[in-house]
Amino acid sequence: MAMGLRPLDISRWLEIDEHRSAQLDLKRRLLEESRDVVVATRPEADAASAELLEEIRRWFATFAPDLEVNSTAGHPIVTAARVVQEDLCVLLRDDAWRLQAACVCFPSRWSLASKIGRTMDQIHAPIPGYGELLSVPTNAAFDRLKAERPFWRLNWTLIDDASLHQPTSPRPLRGGSLGRDDLDLEDLDHDDLDHWFFRVERQTIRRLPSSGAIVFTIHNYVASLEQLRGTPEFFEHLQLGIDTTPAPMQEYKGWVGVARRLREILN
Ligand code: HEM
Repeated sequence: MAMGLRPLDISRWLEIDEHRSAQLDLKRRLLEESRDVVVATRPEADAASAELLEEIRRWFATFAPDLEVNSTAGHPIVTAARVVQEDLCVLLRDDAWRLQAACVCFPSRWSLASKIGRTMDQIHAPIPGYGELLSVPTNAAFDRLKAERPFWRLNWTLIDDASLHQPTSPRPLRGGSLGRDDLDLEDLDHDDLDHWFFRVERQTIRRLPSSGAIVFTIHNYVASLEQLRGTPEFFEHLQLGIDTTPAPMQEYKGWVGVARRLREILN
């Protein structure tokens, strides 16, 4: 587990791919049907959210001139989230950096309502090892962040559901041991590599020049293991990644027994 921050070329702040139209449609539907699940805002972040919308408008003008922000109605973070594939979070500092506005349509098994207003340490409290390994460097990196030096990082997981919108709590993969010894792995229906998904979050971290807020963006990429079958080095790295993940983190991710199961499937 590492902070893994890399300098971000601003031309790559947002990514646009062939899934754009489907993902924006899904966002539109979620905003209609489950607004309270996907949006949370505090008034103190209104100005920063408006600045974020303006930054997206300027970024489009410079790097994606075919795209535009075509509405100004509603909360600016929602207007912004409707035109980009990324989920958007705004953090402000008082005693600590706190999540004060967000539109997160594609959470990977966490709930936005439980994180709004919380500090970085509180947000990450369920993650084994975060407090010991990442809390100090991450808070320091946020304090040092300069508007002209943004960063990006990746998070990955292996998950048994391809849906982008998973606002549930972590649950064990059905192909794993479920943390129980009494389960008969032979009965499980996850033998097939197309029931398993490699999900990568590309995250960017940027300081807004005027408000001083931090904008955190998350862009999800999902591929089934079947799609990746032709890349043996990928599976070697995946198994190594799982095997070297400490046991409490494997529990948190729902990966207990999964490396063994993958070997059985692949051999
Ligand atoms: C340098 C910055 C950051 C680092 C190093 C970091 C690190 C991590 C790690 C290691 C995990 C566990 C990942 C996993 O399941 O694979 C995680 C999960 C998470 N992170 Fe971050 N994170 C950062 C920034 C943020 C920010 C700015 C937010 C603000 C919304 C955030 C929200 C979350 C949430 C909601 C989870 C899931 C927590 C849960 O399961 O309850 N992270 N982060």
